[in-house]
Amino acid sequence: MPIDKEFHKKLKPVGKHHEHYVWGQGKIGAAANDAKVKTDYESEGKKLEPIGIHGTFVAVDWDDCIADGACLPACPVSVFEWFKNPGASGQDQKLSYTDKSDPIREADCIWCMACVTVCPTEAIKVDQDMVSIHQGIKL
Ligand code: F3S
Ligand code: F3S
Ligand code: ZN
Repeated sequence: MPIDKEFHKKLKPVGKHHEHYVWGQGKIGAAANDAKVKTDYESEGKKLEPIGIHGTFVAVDWDDCIADGACLPACPVSVFEWFKNPGASGQDQKLSYTDKSDPIREADCIWCMACVTVCPTEAIKVDQDMVSIHQGIKL
């Protein structure tokens, strides 16, 4: 299922990661039904549980991210890096299919929408109108 376009009305900011907020709670998304993701969680001995959304105006639903990786090199201003492989942003530089695309340079987004277009599970929502919501968050 794609990222909920109205997530900010249903979820709450539950933390901050780098300069972006994390929204919870998570959901049972595309990752929970993806064979490669499930296999890698099992081989790492970890339970596949809802995680939530990283970012607000460049929002990546980690429960829908299946570590496809197309969004990372697609971004002209390098907004994303792999969560488990910091500094790496090549499509195939994920450590495993349990990895996630992290919008660590959210503020650099120039609204080109390439990431939104290439994601196979529609895990990303980019919305300039959400900048004011980001600025108004108090944890
Ligand atoms: Fe994940 Fe979609 Fe990017 S599956 S790695 S958010 S292209
Ligand atoms: Fe990059 Fe996506 Fe913004 S590709 S410029 S984060 S719309
Ligand atoms: Zn993050």
